[in-house]
Amino acid sequence: MVKAWYMDDDTTSDQRLEHHKNPQEFILLEELLMKTGVEYFNLNVDTYMSDGVLDQLKKERGYTYEDEIVCSKECLPNYEEKIKSFYSEHLHTDEEIRFVLDGSGYFDVRDGSDRWIRIAVSAGDMIVIPAGIYHRFTLDTMNYIKAKRFFIGEPVWLPYNRPADDMPCRRQYLDKLSEGFVTAH
Ligand SMILES: [Fe+2]
Repeated sequence: MVKAWYMDDDTTSDQRLEHHKNPQEFILLEELLMKTGVEYFNLNVDTYMSDGVLDQLKKERGYTYEDEIVCSKECLPNYEEKIKSFYSEHLHTDEEIRFVLDGSGYFDVRDGSDRWIRIAVSAGDMIVIPAGIYHRFTLDTMNYIKAKRFFIGEPVWLPYNRPADDMPCRRQYLDKLSEGFVTAH
């Protein structure tokens, strides 16, 4: 089951560590939605191909594209550099949708007060990171994740590094944040 927590301010040690505050400060999924707009779905990795849950989600949300990615030392050339590049704070003009099939990793998102929240994902976790939110990704110390990516229409993976405050998607995101996100499921 997914866990999320506020991160410490340590920027010198390995990004793959948990980076808990002291004392630890966890955040509930409902709060995560309210404070960031990040949505979460739990799927069954053993039955998702036939149980209809993922199919229903794809239909409801219009996900027409999907592929599968594996990140590991074996699969990514220049692994250490690559994971540092994933860790640059950025946003996208579209949702970032990931369904973890195996392994684990961390999605970090900024809340409305610009504090980092770390979301630990593993097999069965599907998260939807809204367009316009500042975020980043890292593998954890297991150095392995396998996930499905989804997209509405032709995929655009382009990251816009912070600052990108004048982009329309950023302004729209901030408007939604001030109005308050509502549960979609
Ligand atoms: Fe991203």
